Amino acid sequence: MVETNVVAEPTAAILEEKIRSRRARVGIVGLGYVGLPLAVEFAKAGFSVTGIDISEEKTRRVNAGESYVGDISNATLAPLVESGKLRATSDFSAVLELDTINICVPTPLRKTKDPDMSFIVSSCQEIARHFHAGTLVILESTTYPGTTEELVLPMLTKGGLQVGRDFFLCFSPERVDPGNPRYQTVNIPKVVGGCTEACTQIGRLFYSQALQTVVPVSSTQVAEMVKLLENTFRMINIGLVNEMAMMCDRIGINVWEVIDAAATKPFGFMPFYPGPGLGGHCIPIDPFYLSWKTKQAGIEARFIELAGYINGQMPHFVVDKVQNALNDAGKPVKGSHILIMGVAYKRDIEDMRESPALDVLLLLQRRGGIVSYCDPHVPQLRLDGLSLQSVSQEAAAEADCVVIVTDHKAFDYTSLVERASLIVDSRNALKGVASPKIVRL
Ligand SMILES: NC(=O)c1ccc[n+]([C@@H]2O[C@H](COP(=O)([O-])OP(=O)(O)OC[C@H]3O[C@@H](n4cnc5c(N)ncnc54)[C@H](O)[C@@H]3O)[C@@H](O)[C@H]2O)c1
Repeated sequence: MVETNVVAEPTAAILEEKIRSRRARVGIVGLGYVGLPLAVEFAKAGFSVTGIDISEEKTRRVNAGESYVGDISNATLAPLVESGKLRATSDFSAVLELDTINICVPTPLRKTKDPDMSFIVSSCQEIARHFHAGTLVILESTTYPGTTEELVLPMLTKGGLQVGRDFFLCFSPERVDPGNPRYQTVNIPKVVGGCTEACTQIGRLFYSQALQTVVPVSSTQVAEMVKLLENTFRMINIGLVNEMAMMCDRIGINVWEVIDAAATKPFGFMPFYPGPGLGGHCIPIDPFYLSWKTKQAGIEARFIELAGYINGQMPHFVVDKVQNALNDAGKPVKGSHILIMGVAYKRDIEDMRESPALDVLLLLQRRGGIVSYCDPHVPQLRLDGLSLQSVSQEAAAEADCVVIVTDHKAFDYTSLVERASLIVDSRNALKGVASPKIVRL
């Protein structure tokens, strides 16, 4: 872990000493997929951590040692709570006692695809009411470049405090990948950029107490842009490969075989895979934060708009495949029983935010299909007035068509192929299985 010498300003020196000695009282605002794992890492590193969340259900569960985030087990959380290292509250007056505050609240899009900054604004307003000198504040929520200094900073300086002297402000993009067994909060390198050099150095010192690698950058804007580059890179490459899938389909080539063979090139190529569309809280959303910002500067983010359009077509493409496959089997989609395998937005997690499975499900229903789903991670589903319960995988035997939308490892693919009469596989989950029942993307 990196240790640095932070500037000798009195406030900075006091905070530095508190951080190094683990006496700094750490606050995490927003205890979701990002905030709870971060709170756990700092508690494990020996800090006294207070999580603040407006959800009383979440604070109650944390205080009961009960995790609601897949990557954090109760066995990890409960001892930290029992030993007093970690507690949660909905009361922002806790800020009075804190030395550091990480903000991990949601940053969704409005229906118009404009950034919804309301969660950052409301949490910062609450922080500002109890704010005091000597605090390090780090925004982690993904957002457009400029947010930290244009939106957050003015709220914290209202009381006359000066950034870099009286308090310290940074942006640090969150890169956590829920469900990834190899890379978790502790071993994903952490980029941090401050409003001033002193801010960056204290931010770096702070993270280096609990995380393995810290990467300082020269400004909050660079740190904000790093996250947008990473996620835009993914979104556009997925858009490219989705378009490639549609082209290969039209001319009768197996796109999966093409990608696997291309990926044998040891340099200059990185495989991305097509699928039923984008999902989750990041890839479908974050690039639009960037395009919103650059539009104001007179630059149209054309790659982003195009990839957004292509990715948005994928649920329709999958549904067309289902309809065609049923037609070929002599069954119209209207009145057919269709079983969707997997509704979470990606493999082996329970998160359904922006999941393309929801679009696939609704589109099939609108075409008259009788749709059910199977997902061991999502026991119930409420959507557009619909309330569904996950059925067992055995239901594949009764379905006219099975659609693999999310390729959870828990599914028994061998028995699925045995039982089902027709399978549309949007994830290449049945790679290597040859059967006339299988229709691939
Ligand atoms: N989930 C991911 O995989 C991931 C990965 C990288 C970055 N991010 C980014 O991190 C940020 C948080 O995402 P998340 O997935 O943890 O969201 P989440 O919805 O799981 O958690 C956010 C938490 O903030 C709480 N909250 C909302 N308003 C609040 C307020 N005013 N004060 C206190 N708490 C409040 C919510 O109750 C919730 O518990 C987003 O900007 C997201 O884009 C998420």
